[in-house]
Amino acid sequence: MRVVAVWTIKGGVGKTAAAVNLASLAAREGQRTLLCDLDPQGAASFYFRVKAKVKGGGRKLLKRSFELQRLVRATEFENLDLLPADFSYRRLDLDLDARKQPESRLALKLAPLDAEYDTVFLDCPPSVSLASESVLRAADALLVPVVPTTLSLRGLAQVRSFARKTGRRGLLVLPFLSMVDRRKTMHREAVERCAADGGFLRAAIPSASVVEKMGVHRAPLSAFAPSCAAARAFAELWDELRARLGAGG
Ligand SMILES: Nc1ncnc2c1ncn2[C@@H]1O[C@H](COP(=O)(O)OP(=O)(O)OP(=O)(O)O)[C@@H](O)[C@H]1O
Ligand SMILES: [Mg+2]
Repeated sequence: MRVVAVWTIKGGVGKTAAAVNLASLAAREGQRTLLCDLDPQGAASFYFRVKAKVKGGGRKLLKRSFELQRLVRATEFENLDLLPADFSYRRLDLDLDARKQPESRLALKLAPLDAEYDTVFLDCPPSVSLASESVLRAADALLVPVVPTTLSLRGLAQVRSFARKTGRRGLLVLPFLSMVDRRKTMHREAVERCAADGGFLRAAIPSASVVEKMGVHRAPLSAFAPSCAAARAFAELWDELRARLGAGG
């Protein structure tokens, strides 16, 4: 089982869009896939038409004796399950802090799923917190969407530093370009800087209204626009990610 977290400090940069589309691509390929919606906003749950409600909330979910599997729901898509969000996850930091070794708690909760899933995606809320630390300990790879702007690149520097300090040993930190609008000079310049960085995955997700339409269709792109440019970019991203995970992430 490989755990892929999609996280960055910045909000609204395409974390959920990436988590939802990559999870659907992994599942389509036959991988047993779980998407964990850790964001109280519940956007990933919404996209997959699963109610963002967990009985007992985050506090129960984190209990050592409670089996995470009991909360998992099937989606309409073969091989793809979802752990729904709950509004109580806004307090996940406090709930974690009340536990022993809070940084390792998420990894501990996910470990028993090893026999059930090939790939687990964690759709994380923005900001940096104890919950983020727990995510970075549980993950094999961290996908970081970066919108080509100065502030987003600054956010990446902060994420890299935080991941170095708190992440699991060998954690792969994999930034990729998100919401790229090549009509904007600033975006084009930032894209060049990112290419020179060397650490970026090559796939770049374009800014495209079809991605926003996922909210109308309540489905990943592969279900309603599989050959659009954005869907092709997510497929490239998945190819690269799969290769990196296979290479010993
Ligand atoms: N490539 C894209 N092109 C155009 N719009 C996009 C793209 N990716 C995401 N969006 C839109 O931008 C908004 C934010 O995207 P998304 O929810 O994926 O970001 P996020 O980083 O998960 O946000 P949050 O920090 O709130 O969790 C949504 O309305 C989404 O439809
Ligand atoms: Mg999100």
